Amino acid sequence: MSATTFELERLEGKTFGAVVRNIDLKNLGDVEWEAVRAAWIEYGLLVFPGQFLSIDEQNSFAERFGDLEFPAAPISNVTKDGAVHSDPAEDLVKSLRGNEGWHHDSTYMPVQAKGAVFTAEVVPAGGADTGFADMRAAYQALDTETRDLVQDLVAYHSLYYSQGRVGYLPRQEDDGSYGMYGYHDHEVSVRPLVRVHPETGISHLNIGRHAHNIPGMDPDESEKLLDRLNEEAIADPDRVYFHQWTEGDAIVWDNRSLMHCATPFDMTQARVMWHTRIAGERESEAALNHA
Ligand SMILES: [Fe+2]
Repeated sequence: MSATTFELERLEGKTFGAVVRNIDLKNLGDVEWEAVRAAWIEYGLLVFPGQFLSIDEQNSFAERFGDLEFPAAPISNVTKDGAVHSDPAEDLVKSLRGNEGWHHDSTYMPVQAKGAVFTAEVVPAGGADTGFADMRAAYQALDTETRDLVQDLVAYHSLYYSQGRVGYLPRQEDDGSYGMYGYHDHEVSVRPLVRVHPETGISHLNIGRHAHNIPGMDPDESEKLLDRLNEEAIADPDRVYFHQWTEGDAIVWDNRSLMHCATPFDMTQARVMWHTRIAGERESEAALNHA
């Protein structure tokens, strides 16, 4: 395939995102790859229908964007034994349900993610769309007073907070810890509410469900402000896109300029998705207290 044969179509009526067709992610030439990478930065979200990537192919594609925070992991209510899980008391279900809150991935880690490749293997009959929100446009849409207010604010980010707030913390181990990814005992990450994208220089909000306790602010006031910012970020349908999955779809998003969320589905039906997380670069994605 030559360098420029793929077709890129902007998401209609949206401030971000594009669908890319006539491309084979398993066999990208260098020039074609450069065009994909540039489009990823520009659009924030690229949807590639009909790719049917294997786990290794998905990881290889993700590795072109940078080191991996972790290789393809199942985001699924189906376990290896084939059992389908829907019991709200189960840790697996709680973890999936928690993702229904808008967020950037791994802001609770010392270094937040740069992006992710997400693919659909088994899609249930209804629901289970993935939402994406343009945080560049959300920042632009802030009124002057709010923009001035948030400009120099920072917040703590943690999974203990976000999952605890909605009652989805997992079962504790004997030593009191939680044996799931992201429940670390490093210092709680502190991140600015407004960040500048390291490659475009464009400002965007960096908030989501893990953000809490703005230092210097009363905790209730902080929660109110962050809730308002999160709500306003997704208030305009032009800045939000819900992807309805078809098996074989592959998506890559820029975790800096976008937030995303899961949406509910009938969990008695199987859903199998694969998520490869692309590590952020320490120079730009480290928390202020982990730099
Ligand atoms: Fe996520």
